[in-house]
Amino acid sequence: MKFRKRNSERVKDRAETATAGTEEIKKELVRIYREEFGKTPDIVTSAPGRINLIGEHTDYNGGYVLPVAIDRRTYTAAGKRGGELFIAFSKELGKKTSFEILPGKFEHSNFWVNYIKGACSLLSEIKPVKGMNFAIGSTVPRGSGLSSSAAYVVSILEAVSRLYEIPLKDIEIPLLAQRIENEFVGVQSGIMDPFVAKFARAQNALLIDSRSLDFKHVPIPEKGSILVCVTGVRRALATTEYNKRRQQCQAAVADLSERLGRKVELLRDVSLDELKSLKEQMDPILYNRSYHVVTENQRALQTFAALENEDLGLVGKLMLESHISLRSNYDVSGPELDTYVEIAEQLDGVYGARMTGAGFGGSAICLVDSDNEEELAAEVEARYRDRGYQEGHVFIARTGGGSRVERA
Ligand code: GLA
Repeated sequence: MKFRKRNSERVKDRAETATAGTEEIKKELVRIYREEFGKTPDIVTSAPGRINLIGEHTDYNGGYVLPVAIDRRTYTAAGKRGGELFIAFSKELGKKTSFEILPGKFEHSNFWVNYIKGACSLLSEIKPVKGMNFAIGSTVPRGSGLSSSAAYVVSILEAVSRLYEIPLKDIEIPLLAQRIENEFVGVQSGIMDPFVAKFARAQNALLIDSRSLDFKHVPIPEKGSILVCVTGVRRALATTEYNKRRQQCQAAVADLSERLGRKVELLRDVSLDELKSLKEQMDPILYNRSYHVVTENQRALQTFAALENEDLGLVGKLMLESHISLRSNYDVSGPELDTYVEIAEQLDGVYGARMTGAGFGGSAICLVDSDNEEELAAEVEARYRDRGYQEGHVFIARTGGGSRVERA
């Protein structure tokens, strides 16, 4: 009984932490908007950052992913200004910039504006969008592999589409967000990040079938907490290497089609047995990349089932297997991420750990016993710093819901 009481108190705590900070940043953003534009915004929207529990580098192969939205969000305060001019202020960058939608596309000097241009240009194809003001602020750490960019672009799409009453189905928001990343920002990212930013539910993981775009929620058992272990590094090569992995997967698909004598559209279409039977014939890099994707899809489905059964031990085991595969078959980990996972493996109360997101720096996650979350977070961080990585830090990730209107 005593234990149960403690548990329910903790749930309440969690719910409170999940909203902590939200009111402050919203108020501040409205104040900034008034200061910058001399009036109150017409709308304030928000969308969350995410961690991915498992299913890494599978989305662009038509596979399964299992992300969780966190309670760090990006907020967009927006209003109509008429005319052709768009003016945007970023709280984090302390920068204000103006532009007209056309010619749109890349602008290297003001990289963050590409997302707004992308959103306004693509939405204008559906229904004309006139000039607007934006003030944008975020609690999602940037460059930490927590998908601050999807939170950003989804919150903008929500604001612009609602303000101009553009008829969009829910599913079109992540699809447009992905196009903006691909066409206006130059990252060939998959559907996972904007999808979870739109459809997440607090205290749940979201299984997405990246091919059919079907999805289902599964509760995260209360005895599990997620630690986000920020490495403090982001490799300069991250985007190039990411795009390279995508090309290697496409090359593997072409190769497998030929060898199997049938049309393989995506790595999702190949079974593990088929793949293994071709091991000696395939280029080793293409084989390893395919092996990761095929086994990772299985792990994502197994993790979903383990969550349904509240078997956190099994979830942890699958997370570790995923990390090992990402490190050795997919080659997207790095010394910092491996160090976090090594540290976590040695601690009691940790179910499992792995890198999360694209890799090459960013963050790792640990699934830990929620009764000891504070101690474990402090211990993992201290040990990581002892290993010489002073820029690392660890926080307990509360979960969050998908994009929403904060104020209309
Ligand atoms: C980045 C991309 C996602 C996904 C992950 C790797 O976060 O934006 O689409 O491919 O990397 O799983």
